[in-house]
Formats: sequence, structure tokens, C-alpha cells
Amino acid sequence: MSWYPVPIPSQAGRSVLVTGANAGLGFFTAARLARAGAHVTLSGRSPERLQAAVVALRHRMPRAAVDTLVIDTSSLESVHAGVERLLDRAPLTSVVLNAGMVHTPGSRHESVDGHELVLATNVLGHFALIARLLPHLAAGARVVTLGSLSTRLSTFRVDDLELRRSYDAWRAYAQSKIAATSIAFELDRRLRRAAEDAAEAVGAASATPRVHSVVAHPGYAISGRTPSVPGVSAPPRIDRFLDALQAPFAQGKHRGAEPVVHAVVADDVEGGQFWGPRFLTKGEPRLATPTRTSRDPRIGARVWAFAEEATGVRLDARQVGS
Ligand SMILES: NC(=O)c1ccc[n+]([C@@H]2O[C@H](COP(=O)([O-])OP(=O)(O)OC[C@H]3O[C@@H](n4cnc5c(N)ncnc54)[C@H](OP(=O)(O)O)[C@@H]3O)[C@@H](O)[C@H]2O)c1
Repeated sequence: MSWYPVPIPSQAGRSVLVTGANAGLGFFTAARLARAGAHVTLSGRSPERLQAAVVALRHRMPRAAVDTLVIDTSSLESVHAGVERLLDRAPLTSVVLNAGMVHTPGSRHESVDGHELVLATNVLGHFALIARLLPHLAAGARVVTLGSLSTRLSTFRVDDLELRRSYDAWRAYAQSKIAATSIAFELDRRLRRAAEDAAEAVGAASATPRVHSVVAHPGYAISGRTPSVPGVSAPPRIDRFLDALQAPFAQGKHRGAEPVVHAVVADDVEGGQFWGPRFLTKGEPRLATPTRTSRDPRIGARVWAFAEEATGVRLDARQVGS
């Protein structure tokens, strides 16, 4: 019997922002949460592609509570403009940092802000987004960062995050995912410290962080194993054929989204955890083991300091609102 989809509790009353939600894992994450009753803000860089995703969702769920927000994560100006629009709304109960360049360019490009483009898109935009949003998240909110198995398959040059010394497409992707994961775990540590300090200040015995930072990865999730969604995903037949050959170790993006959905909704999830598929590249969600590098507090602190400098935004984990 198929494990998919994993039943999830009602999300009525919850509000979630998903970046890169017009396609791939972000779309299926948004769809599952909307189906469960959450209000979902689909964010992406193209208003047309976002609209197509909303039409696709509404086609299946006419009463889905969804809206859109344009944020190009490679541009700090776009991130700040998007945040301004979120600050007027009710506090978010979760943010899914999903947007990402997966097919990275063969040569080094820079973002409008002058940062290596993959780093800017996959890491720096999300850092600035969370830095600005953190004080406005609901108590108990979760920040879910998309990790990747690629973090196991690459070394990490923390002294060359901009890849100025040597660039290749694979390193750009893997480094960006290691940096994103490292920041997520550093955020968890800082949120815990802030909670302990706050508890100590009032003589409280226990300290629960008011926001939880979790990492989830989809295993190996490919288009050719993904259902067609008109206007959103329509893998050509050749992709379906070729990707079927990978079926023993790959899954569709709808299934790959399940560990992400689990990280957003499940009761057994805590900050600092890493969730992924049961069989590493595919399968139902289960707790996984992150790499030592991505958990290393010294590396986390360095990537964090770099991100603050590169974005010009300070992320203060003590400013967590309710
Ligand atoms: N698929 C996997 O096996 C796998 C494995 C590990 C981790 N991941 C992670 O999962 C996430 C989603 O991957 P995916 O496989 O679903 O990729 P995908 O199908 O290519 O979707 C990527 C999404 O990110 C958006 N995006 C790209 N650049 C953006 C930008 N500058 N600003 C805003 N949005 C942007 C894309 O929007 P456009 O349509 O506008 O390009 C799209 O909505 C990524 O973070 C990736 O690293 C995926």
C-alpha cells in the first residue's frame, strides 16, 4: 500500500508563506497545506507563473485560501518590498524557504546586488527575508529551510562563499545548500539561547523557543515522476520515459514535498531537526541525520556573519514577537 499522502491534521487558522511556490516542491507543499485548510501565500518571482499556480490550485480546490506575493529571492530590493507587504497582515505561523536555483549556470554570474547568483537566490534572499520577518511571526511558528542530500557530497569552502576563487555549477548548488542548512541550524541555536536568556531573566525553569527552525529535504525528487498540473508542470514524454528509469531511487516532487509538509505541520517536529525521506532519496518522512559541517556552530557563526554583512540586515533571534 502506498504511504502517500501522509494524513495531516487540519491547518485551519494557520497561515504559511512558501517561497518558490509556483512550481516543483513549493507548489506541492502549498497545495497540501491549502487542502488542509491553511491560508497559503504563494511567493515567486513571476506574477504570471504565480497566477497560473493559483488557477491550478483553485481548479482542484475552489475554496482554497491562497494569495500571491512577488519576491525574487535573488534581489534584496525585491525581498524588502515583499516583506513590507507581509508586515500589515496577521502573523505567519510558518515560512517555507523553498525557492531555489537547482539547475545552476555553468559559469559564475552575479545578482543585481553583486553576489554570486546561486548564493544570492538560495541563501541571501531567504536570510534577509527571515531577518525581517522573525519579529512578526506567530508564537510557535516554524521556519522550514529546504536542505539537500548534496550537502553530503561536497566539501564546504566557508572562506569562499562567493566562489570567486573557483566556480562550478555543482559546487555553487551544493555550497548554497550547505550554507542555507548551516544558517537554519545556527538560527535554531540562537532561538534557543534567546529563550534561555528570557527564562533566566524571569526565573522560569523551562525555556521553549517561540519560533522553531527546522530543515527538511525531499530526497531525489524529479519532474518525470511528478503528476502533470496544467499551467504548472507538464513534463514531456521523453522526461517521463527517462525518469521512469530512475524510479528505484527517485520520486515525484509531490512525494518529495512530504518531508517539508511534515516539518511544517507534525507534532513530533522540533527546532534543530533534519527531516527527509525514509529511504534517503524517497519514501515517507522520517527524522534524518544532517552532516557534521552543517551542524558545526563555528561554521554556522561564520556563515551567519557573512550573510549579515552581504545583506546588510542583522538577524536578531531575541526579537521574536508573538
Ligand atoms: N528536486 C530535488 O530533488 C531537490 C533535492 C534537494 C533539495 N531541493 C530543493 O528544493 C527546492 C525546490 O526545488 P525544486 O526541485 O522544486 O525546483 P524547481 O522545480 O526548479 O522549482 C524551483 C522554484 O524556485 C523558484 N525560484 C527560482 N529562482 C527564484 C528566484 N530568484 N526568486 C524566487 N523564486 C525562484 C522557481 O520559480 P521560477 O518558476 O520562476 O523559476 C520555482 O518556483 C530548492 O531549494 C532545492 O534546492 C530539491
